[in-house]
Amino acid sequence: MCGIVGYVGKRDAADVLMDGLSKLEYRGYDSAGIAVFENEVIKVAKSKGRLADLQAKMDQDGKPSGHAGIGHTRWATHGEPSDRNSHPHGGGNVTLVHNGIIENYKKLKEFLLAKGRNFESDTDTEVIAQLLDYYYEENHGNPIEAIVKTLKELEGSYALGVVFADFPDRVFALRKESPLIVGIGEGESFIASDVTAILQYTKNYYLLEPGEIAVLSKQEAKVYDLHYQKVEKELKTADWDVSAAEKGGYEHYMLKEIHEQPESIKKTITPRIENGLPNLEECGITPERLMQFNKIHIVACGTAMHAGMVGKYVIEKLAKISVNVDIASEFRYREPLVSEKDLVIIISQSGETADSLAALRLSKQLGAKTLAIVNAKGSSIAREADMLIYTHAGPEIAVASTKAYMVQIAVMYLFAFELALANKKIDEAECRRLTALLQGTPDQISKILEHKEMTQMIASELITADSLLYIGRGLDYALSMEGSLKLKEISYIHSESYAAGELKHGTISLITEEMPVIAVATQQNLFDKTISNIKEVKARGAKVILVSRDSYQPEKDVADFKFGLPEYEDLLMPMLAVVPLQLIAYYTAVLKGTDVDKPRNLAKSVTVE
Ligand code: M6R
Repeated sequence: MCGIVGYVGKRDAADVLMDGLSKLEYRGYDSAGIAVFENEVIKVAKSKGRLADLQAKMDQDGKPSGHAGIGHTRWATHGEPSDRNSHPHGGGNVTLVHNGIIENYKKLKEFLLAKGRNFESDTDTEVIAQLLDYYYEENHGNPIEAIVKTLKELEGSYALGVVFADFPDRVFALRKESPLIVGIGEGESFIASDVTAILQYTKNYYLLEPGEIAVLSKQEAKVYDLHYQKVEKELKTADWDVSAAEKGGYEHYMLKEIHEQPESIKKTITPRIENGLPNLEECGITPERLMQFNKIHIVACGTAMHAGMVGKYVIEKLAKISVNVDIASEFRYREPLVSEKDLVIIISQSGETADSLAALRLSKQLGAKTLAIVNAKGSSIAREADMLIYTHAGPEIAVASTKAYMVQIAVMYLFAFELALANKKIDEAECRRLTALLQGTPDQISKILEHKEMTQMIASELITADSLLYIGRGLDYALSMEGSLKLKEISYIHSESYAAGELKHGTISLITEEMPVIAVATQQNLFDKTISNIKEVKARGAKVILVSRDSYQPEKDVADFKFGLPEYEDLLMPMLAVVPLQLIAYYTAVLKGTDVDKPRNLAKSVTVE
């Protein structure tokens, strides 16, 4: 959570920082601030609220003007969102921005208070600034030595952008756990939590490793280790262009990202299909390796976990291997039964989710082999897993995940097909047939996107509801979990997903005329049973919205509204059926006037437990 940027160069630093922060606002948006060297003096502007509030404040009071500085957009952990707790924070010579959590900040604060230091905020971050300044004084103005000493004291996670009043043409940066990249331009250098923040200026960057300190100047960015030895870094080039991180004419990123799904699927699966069969060898996955696993665990959070639920159904059905799906925050503290013969799959869009990363590390300690399915290139989960399949969704900016989910399930299918073939549970002809069907999904999704008007009408029926249920069986149930999360996350309408057959065991007592039900019925073998469950809620007054196949025409006693999906293989229907669920959530939120791309209290990348 939180986004940080830094800049040294010839441009107006405040403009570059504000522009970078606008790309990082998805990481947190309850306050923002920048610090810029103006005539060699650090000037800070910060404000509670969105970047727009900070901009308004600077429009009124004047923006700091200079060519070097740091910036921050916050998701509060220690200390309520307020002007006082907004970053940057200072201590004497030091001003800094921080993404992460310092776990031992209380102990460090006591130490500093005893040394006569005063604090102006409730944050853990100010403790870092004060400690750094304390060591800076002790080391007679040597920033690197002060940083090294401070690092040894800090417990927790951090990515830091630091300026020292005595070095007006430098920005210092370091990290542990929280991500940070160093951007290399011509006559300018950058730091950012994520490469999208600097794409407008350069595509070239270094990945900063824990234990490395970057020193940015106009001419260059040098990276040192903790012994002050220069580290030679590999220059990476981002393959995302600027437009990928912009709205491109859509009203919201979420709508743009929903429409990008056909293309994202193609980019993700095409390079992994050879002669009509899945080939994941470049990801470290061979048939021989796949044959070794006894059991599979899929561990993830939120939407990524829901993609894992689809994966479970598909893998168990095709490859006949038992799959456990776990929420990462539960898995890591449950003493999970994972053995050396197991495969643990971690799914994550950002590759930085703290609980998922911890689950990956725990699985490795337990001796399991690990496979990461990750969208953000070079992220921690991507780097630490034994095997890696990148999804190629491009940058996902909206907090509500859509295209990342789509490519996560596309990868789950490819993986399941290859696993089933390796374990001889399907033959080559069947594997080819399923792979071709997967390749056909982008066209089907495009068709659905061309006829989305019904989702707008359905949304207008939902906006007055306080609460609703999503129901389905089998893969439709797995999918309804994602539909429900999408809706509540951005429209703030309470919703739950339920296995349709489980309703009678308690939840059906909630059904009244006030409780709409969104029912997903695409699985032909379960169809009649799901329809019976739908009739049960309809008979009790619920307004029913049905997502089902075009070929099914519901009677009045089944549904009030229906969204029809093209005829397709049962197994692949989640890829099609999720689209109307995403659109229903989107249009409901738009009609309710919520902040669709940045729903309250959330952040895109959850780097704290
Ligand atoms: O970056 P990750 O995929 O690890 O993130 C996991 C969840 O935080 C994320 O999927 C979250 O649930 C989405 N905001 C839901 O739309």
